[in-house]
Amino acid sequence: MTSSALKKLEGKVAIVTGGASGIGEETARCFSSHGAKVVIADIQDEKGRALVESIGSPCCTYIRCDVADEQQVISLVQSTLQLYGKLDIMFSNAGVINSVKQDILDFDISAFERLFAINVKGMASCVKHSARAMVDKDIKGSIICTASVAATIGSDEFIDYTMSKHAVLGLVRSASKQLGALGIRVNCVSPGGIATPLVCNNLGKSKEEIERIFESSSSLKGVLKAKHVADAVVFLASEDSEFVNGHNLVVDGGFNTV
Ligand SMILES: NC(=O)c1ccc[n+]([C@@H]2O[C@H](COP(=O)([O-])OP(=O)(O)OC[C@H]3O[C@@H](n4cnc5c(N)ncnc54)[C@H](O)[C@@H]3O)[C@@H](O)[C@H]2O)c1
Repeated sequence: MTSSALKKLEGKVAIVTGGASGIGEETARCFSSHGAKVVIADIQDEKGRALVESIGSPCCTYIRCDVADEQQVISLVQSTLQLYGKLDIMFSNAGVINSVKQDILDFDISAFERLFAINVKGMASCVKHSARAMVDKDIKGSIICTASVAATIGSDEFIDYTMSKHAVLGLVRSASKQLGALGIRVNCVSPGGIATPLVCNNLGKSKEEIERIFESSSSLKGVLKAKHVADAVVFLASEDSEFVNGHNLVVDGGFNTV
């Protein structure tokens, strides 16, 4: 529990996409403990509802939303406005990685299109419709997207995922220009490797195995956790970052510099 004096998001209304698991789940918990009203959006209904129950706040709701479908993103934003009257924070975080190996010689274009529908089109829809809601109500809001360390380096095996995260960075930098002029900040977080279901399922390894692999890749000692990313997102969502716009906040324990 965060003491009321330290609550950074009191009175704010936030949406967290991909909020039922991993980084989104941890961020939904942090947003709520900082006093925000939180809408968890995901396609995993059971996990989303269980998380709402576990957070235990009357101001936390689960809404099913497949971000690849723009109409569902529009409904998500409208339902949030109906429930809580406004939208201050969009954490556009839902993302996937393909289970098929995506190197260039065997590049599966259909798998690439499915991934882009979520990681890129979905991100753009969430930025677009949250920004429209903020502009309509003259809210000086904060939009945060989840990119990745893969947004700034190449990969030989996950080319579509790497392309999608480069696109998220382009989206954030571009949207921050137009929306910054309207008082709405757009930033992204770029996590290093974390043993969430996304990674464990993709590599077919346990959380402990993945953590051992990632541990050696950062210059800081220890293991990067979803909570480290959630804390960075709270910073970007709160007034603490009131003059930070178009920024890519890397949270990787120094991986990029090793
Ligand atoms: N875990 C890592 O190592 C890592 C590193 C860098 C970036 N990321 C990014 O972090 C974000 C969150 O991933 P995570 O690691 O917490 O994984 P996760 O699998 O634990 O969580 C992702 C959530 O997104 C949801 N989701 C998937 N498709 C969706 C859709 N179409 N509409 C709505 N929700 C959908 C899933 O159901 C899941 O709950 C992703 O954008 C991912 O690319 C993860």
